[in-house]
Amino acid sequence: MKNYPLHSSEKERDRLKMQALAILPLTESLLTGAGVQPESQVLELGCGSGDVTLLLASRVGSGGEVVAMDRDPAQLDAAAKRVAEAGFRNVKFVLADLDDFEPARTFDAIVGRYFLLYVASPEAAVARVAKWVRPGGTMAFLEMDFFRGVHSSIWPPASPETHQAIVFIGDVMLDAGINPYMAARLPSILMRYGSVQVQTSAPPQYGARSVELPLEAVRSVTPMARKLGRADADHHDVDALLARELAGRDEHTVTVPPMSVAAWVQLA
Ligand SMILES: C[S@@+](CC[C@H](N)C(=O)[O-])C[C@H]1O[C@@H](n2cnc3c(N)ncnc32)[C@H](O)[C@@H]1O
Repeated sequence: MKNYPLHSSEKERDRLKMQALAILPLTESLLTGAGVQPESQVLELGCGSGDVTLLLASRVGSGGEVVAMDRDPAQLDAAAKRVAEAGFRNVKFVLADLDDFEPARTFDAIVGRYFLLYVASPEAAVARVAKWVRPGGTMAFLEMDFFRGVHSSIWPPASPETHQAIVFIGDVMLDAGINPYMAARLPSILMRYGSVQVQTSAPPQYGARSVELPLEAVRSVTPMARKLGRADADHHDVDALLARELAGRDEHTVTVPPMSVAAWVQLA
């Protein structure tokens, strides 16, 4: 997908970090399911700012290696900095688009989180990377479902303006070509390679600031909305919406994000 809908910026990296914390338990299940352990050789697709990379580096230890690739140099730099600061020396970063990437080796596990959502054909991408898995190795992906849960569910209810802004996120993502139906589509794709394990999660976030997660996503998709020429691209004033939502909320606020799906498969 050439129209990657999320703007690469400091705020977007902060949003991804917030999202990463919420999705940590499902991510850990994914990595355990994928058999990532000391000495594993792992390829990470679309490492972004490195949240999963750090988990992988810690799991494989000094006897293992993580090859983390992404096509966005700013994200890759941010990831490399975080990994170095954490003291890991077992990660090799590769700046590449999946379409042009051709590793000259195989891996024990190939992992991607919120990655297949953005490729032109997840079926073709999985077929391609499956060739880089050693016999008995695994493929493991965690994606968000853009069918049922495009919208976060917030209680007490958000203002109609905030709700409209949150609906806008899904509209822009789908307009930009994000892959929908991943909760069903991902297990269906992986089934072609063996017996698939699946877990889903939509971890609730608590407190007034939990509304920042969906509202920051509005900011992140706005440049793409402009690029797509959408009439509503600059309709939502995120700072004003945030100020208003935060003012009226307390610790009893709960935000439930869209559902994520983790699925992994062991190859013959
Ligand atoms: C939503 S981010 C997820 C980052 C990270 N996996 C995480 O969960 O925090 C998706 C990442 O995939 C990268 N990406 C998308 N399509 C790609 C492609 N075809 N080749 C390489 N990287 C890609 C983007 O640059 C972005 O950094």
